[in-house]
Amino acid sequence: MSVTAIIAAAGSGERFGAGIPKALIQLGDRTLLQHAVASLAPVVDQLIISAPAGYEQQISELLGEGVTVVTGGATRSASVRNALALATGQYVLVHDAARALASTDLAGAVISALKSGESAVVPAVAIVDTIKFVGTDNYVASTLDRTSVVSIQTPQGFLTSALREAHGAGGDATDDGALIEANGGKVKIISGEDRALKITTAADLHTALGFLGFDSTYRSGIGSDAHAFSVGRQMWLAGLFWPDQDGVDGHSDGDVAAHAICDALFAATALGDLGSNFGTDRPQYAGASGVQLLQETLAIITTAGYSISNVTVQIIGNRPKISTRRAEAIAAISLSLGGADVSISATTTDGMGLTGEGKGIAAIASALVFKR
Ligand code: CTP
Ligand code: MG
Repeated sequence: MSVTAIIAAAGSGERFGAGIPKALIQLGDRTLLQHAVASLAPVVDQLIISAPAGYEQQISELLGEGVTVVTGGATRSASVRNALALATGQYVLVHDAARALASTDLAGAVISALKSGESAVVPAVAIVDTIKFVGTDNYVASTLDRTSVVSIQTPQGFLTSALREAHGAGGDATDDGALIEANGGKVKIISGEDRALKITTAADLHTALGFLGFDSTYRSGIGSDAHAFSVGRQMWLAGLFWPDQDGVDGHSDGDVAAHAICDALFAATALGDLGSNFGTDRPQYAGASGVQLLQETLAIITTAGYSISNVTVQIIGNRPKISTRRAEAIAAISLSLGGADVSISATTTDGMGLTGEGKGIAAIASALVFKR
């Protein structure tokens, strides 16, 4: 009696607004998707991930062997259908990557209910707010009896044949249970759990960190860097290549924004600085790119039990013009830092000093982190 798990991870995370798919956002020591995989893997025989288009290979590499990755669809239901087509288990669990912390025990309870004869099982928790129907005129039409209303979670479990039939008409719903209901099927409710909350906004990520034992002791740090322009070298800045611009001196790519952020993170976590972490001790990083150093810095501070609240960097120089590529630069740095909240500003120095005289470029960064 084999079980397939489908993890819907193809959403863009619009409401979270990280600039990368929500499933790839870092929560503690791993991404939301990796948390979801880790909790389902012990109790299922097959794992299929529905990935955002363009991220299939990255997700495949992130999760390694034993996981099938398919391209998601335009809606959650379409993403589930794409994975369902490859399901070989007699039972199937459908789970949201966004509910990263749902426990293995919860998945086990869903499977137990299926094995005891249910054909559709969904976890639920009580609602704390009063729920009202509202008319289009913005007046209350009626108030529901709160004791008979619940909030639905995932993983949801189904007889695979029943879920295939429910999806057969190509319907669209925000959960799979609703498609079974629409098809006339019975959906069994079991107890859900608070930690299976759906991570939708940055505040939810914070709540989830609480479940992982992170506290709210914040630490801040600053970092700065400067390099002289050098004719004929490539310009790398804020994780981006800037064609038609001369780069800077140095044996790295000279990305002052990335270097300043790394130093700010090391300062906030009291883990030394760029030199002590990537200097003589680890010569393999001598010529590393700014993006590589950001990724490696994230790995170091994560191992030490820290999580990033936000980082901000100000680039100081006459060129290049940052504002034209600000969103792209924020996305590149955020991606290197596991989806961290990043902001970038730029300024000039009124013709004065190293940067004002056009001799080079500098950056100053701050970081806020908190510890587990
Ligand atoms: N999902 C999916 N395919 C879609 C849309 C959503 O696989 N076309 C997945 C998401 O990745 C998520 C789950 O369905 O794990 C629940 O969706 P939601 O929390 O709404 O995530 P997003 O759609 O990514 O977020 P938002 O609505 O804020 O954009
Ligand atoms: Mg959505």
